[in-house]
Amino acid sequence: MLLLLLLGAATRRCLHDETQKSVSLLRPPSSQLPSNIRSSPLTFPGSRDPQPLRIQTCHIRDPVSGGAWDPEGDGMGGESRALAAVREAAQRLQGVLAVPPVQGPLLLSRDPAQYCHAVWGDPDTPNYHRCSLLNPGYKGESCLGAKIPDAHLRGYALWPEQGPPQLIQPDGPGVQNTDFLLYVRVAHTSKCHREPSIIAYAACCQLDSEDRPLAGTIVYCAQHLTSPSLNHSDIVMATLHELLHALGFSGQLFKKWRDCPSGPSVGENCSTRQQVTRRDEWGQLLLTTPTVSHSLAKHLGVLGVSLGAPLEEEGPLSSHWEARLLQGSIMTAVFDGAQRTRLDPITLAAFKDSGWYQVNHSAAEELLWGHGSGLEFGLVTTCGSGSSDFFCTGSGLGCHYLHLDKGSCSSDPVLEGCRMYKPLANRSECWKKENGFPPGAENPHGEIYHSQSRCFLSNLTSQLLPGDKVRHPSQIPHLKEEELTGHCYLHQCTERGAYKVQLEGSPWVSCPPGKAIQIPGYYGLLFCPRGRLCQTNEDTDVTSPSMSLSTQDLLFRLSFGLAGPPGHSLGKEEGQELTEAILQSLVRRGGARRCYFHSPSITTSLVFTVHMWKPPGCQGPSVGMLHRALTLTLQKKPLEVYYGGANFTTEYSKFLVTSGHNSSMTHLGLSVVLCLMLLILVGALGTVAYQKRATLQVGPSAPYHSSELQSPRGSFGGIREV
Ligand SMILES: *[C@@H]1O[C@H](CO)[C@@H](O)[C@H](O)[C@H]1NC(C)=O
Ligand SMILES: *[C@@H]1O[C@H](CO)[C@@H](O)[C@H](O)[C@H]1NC(C)=O
Ligand SMILES: *[C@@H]1O[C@H](CO)[C@@H](O)[C@H](O)[C@H]1NC(C)=O
Ligand SMILES: *[C@@H]1O[C@H](CO)[C@@H](O)[C@H](O)[C@H]1NC(C)=O
Ligand SMILES: *[C@@H]1O[C@H](CO)[C@@H](O)[C@H](O)[C@H]1NC(C)=O
Ligand SMILES: *[C@@H]1O[C@H](CO)[C@@H](O)[C@H](O)[C@H]1NC(C)=O
Repeated sequence: MLLLLLLGAATRRCLHDETQKSVSLLRPPSSQLPSNIRSSPLTFPGSRDPQPLRIQTCHIRDPVSGGAWDPEGDGMGGESRALAAVREAAQRLQGVLAVPPVQGPLLLSRDPAQYCHAVWGDPDTPNYHRCSLLNPGYKGESCLGAKIPDAHLRGYALWPEQGPPQLIQPDGPGVQNTDFLLYVRVAHTSKCHREPSIIAYAACCQLDSEDRPLAGTIVYCAQHLTSPSLNHSDIVMATLHELLHALGFSGQLFKKWRDCPSGPSVGENCSTRQQVTRRDEWGQLLLTTPTVSHSLAKHLGVLGVSLGAPLEEEGPLSSHWEARLLQGSIMTAVFDGAQRTRLDPITLAAFKDSGWYQVNHSAAEELLWGHGSGLEFGLVTTCGSGSSDFFCTGSGLGCHYLHLDKGSCSSDPVLEGCRMYKPLANRSECWKKENGFPPGAENPHGEIYHSQSRCFLSNLTSQLLPGDKVRHPSQIPHLKEEELTGHCYLHQCTERGAYKVQLEGSPWVSCPPGKAIQIPGYYGLLFCPRGRLCQTNEDTDVTSPSMSLSTQDLLFRLSFGLAGPPGHSLGKEEGQELTEAILQSLVRRGGARRCYFHSPSITTSLVFTVHMWKPPGCQGPSVGMLHRALTLTLQKKPLEVYYGGANFTTEYSKFLVTSGHNSSMTHLGLSVVLCLMLLILVGALGTVAYQKRATLQVGPSAPYHSSELQSPRGSFGGIREV
């Protein structure tokens, strides 16, 4: 888990695992000390209810460099910068993750393999496996180079063959009001020295009895904290990335994730997950837990397809999302600066699936990359085919997909040959006024750099003499070669997904997504991106319904009329896209798998029809149930689909009568009754399933309750029996 800054490339790469692998994960010990010596916090009723995650930070000064590595004489500045970033990241996570609060002060464990040289080896003696000989060289516990204060640690004792122990060190007072203890080091470690581009790295060191991370360390490489190329937001985001590794998003910890029944409390009645990762038939490593799969499918617009989320190929383990698919997520290996990084819903889904946290999903920031792009998106085999405008081919100039920056079409090691428009090394930010032209400078493309400017693909040019206006552009030599490239223009959102643009000296011109427009005073065209600018979370809204249904045994038909903008007529291609948009809304609404829906179509008079049946291998409720559920929800809340700058809404007045039913009104009434029955039935089934699960989940007690001394590492390392 190293965060690397590839200098000059404007990308920061996070290596991982190497650090975590060098750290042993300690779990709380069994009763090393008699219970009258150990502090044993009481558990109160309701104490398992999740509360916002309390991350306590503890700055550990390095004994060796002691903050002395300080070439600019600004070491203190670096430390306060780091601590401010850690506090902000921790505060942000409080609104995102919740855990059953640690009761009483948090006390960390000591590693018997460190303090103990030998244990009693005779199973028949009362102190079997307890420490019989201390390690004279024991120097206390540390976590990734941070020495843990004795005050944070449990005590330890030396045991005679029989009888009570001799207490060497009592339990420390521990840390109050803390669920996760983060040690912070600012140093110039050998790792920082070897890889000058590393900003920070982190590892988790201690787990609780349910394997939830309890403590870890983040190490900042000192020189980057005083570098002007990283601002506070960048360091906060980098810290958040490292913190998320230490809290559970790590190849070393995936296998410890828990499967917990969903309920008001988390971390109760959980079992270790059977499978968290697997390789697909092409060898791609996937994180396959249910919330992650669902969240990715929703993101790609293929709800119902069970996808695992691809992980970056980083050796035997992987702790990052595959960048081809999840560009811009906080947990990809290449960190692209705070502004281009999101705490995305798929990463939050992973924390839900860890079983350790309750997750506030509304804290997720939408990921634009690949949104709604379907199953084929981001594959090495499809990214160069031109089927998705998130990727590019060649090496031309265009716009970064967020349209904040101009970009050049390029690749990097984690894109595995796929190419995307990456921000230029210099002056690529459209939103930075400083990048603009000085007054009076030549500005042939009419660019405006402003906080509200965005990058647009265009070949607009204004270099015309007054007399040229009557001539055809092709007759003007310097206009002939104008290629489409990224340019910065002012934009202003007019409504969801719609906007207008302005160039130097031009009026505001409406820019319909997906269309190319002309600008008065300029030659050439400007392309208005679709689905990238002026997006909000809402994509459907309410007015009133219209539908009709035909229920035969296995084949259902769902058909409804839509109201579109007045005088709207559909072209063939538009019809196909609209059909797809409606179907996606419908699938989302039903929370159903795509595999139920077949041959969707739409007529020029905006009647949408789709057949529904359940092919073999399609998992979920019966098609009848789904059909009725959809019917009910469409009555309650009509479908509104936004497409091509217009709203299409299911309409009550465009009621359809389908074969076999001459009165749609009676049919509708009937279906309402069916739905009510259905809801009751589902409710009852839910109860049965819940009770069954609760009985099944009562398992044997966990091994840490056993009276034997168990090495948290699963082996005794340096300890021998006597
Ligand atoms: C969940 O996240 C939202 C958005 O960040 C925030 O407004 C809200 O307060 C959070 N809820 C909790 C319980 O922290
Ligand atoms: C950091 O820089 C980004 C853009 O580079 C800017 O939007 C943000 O306001 C800056 N944050 C701070 C705290 O300076
Ligand atoms: C956990 O199991 C206990 C009994 O074994 C049961 O009373 C409790 O309701 C279960 N909790 C959850 C969240 O399922
Ligand atoms: C970027 O700017 C620096 C300093 O202004 C300059 O030396 C360098 O050549 C520029 N690089 C590019 C790719 O334009
Ligand atoms: C701008 O690009 C369009 C489409 O590629 C092309 O038809 C047009 O001739 C170009 N205009 C200029 C002024 O280069
Ligand atoms: C589409 O619907 C939304 C919400 O009902 C509304 O705000 C917007 O103005 C509508 N847009 C058009 C083009 O009708």
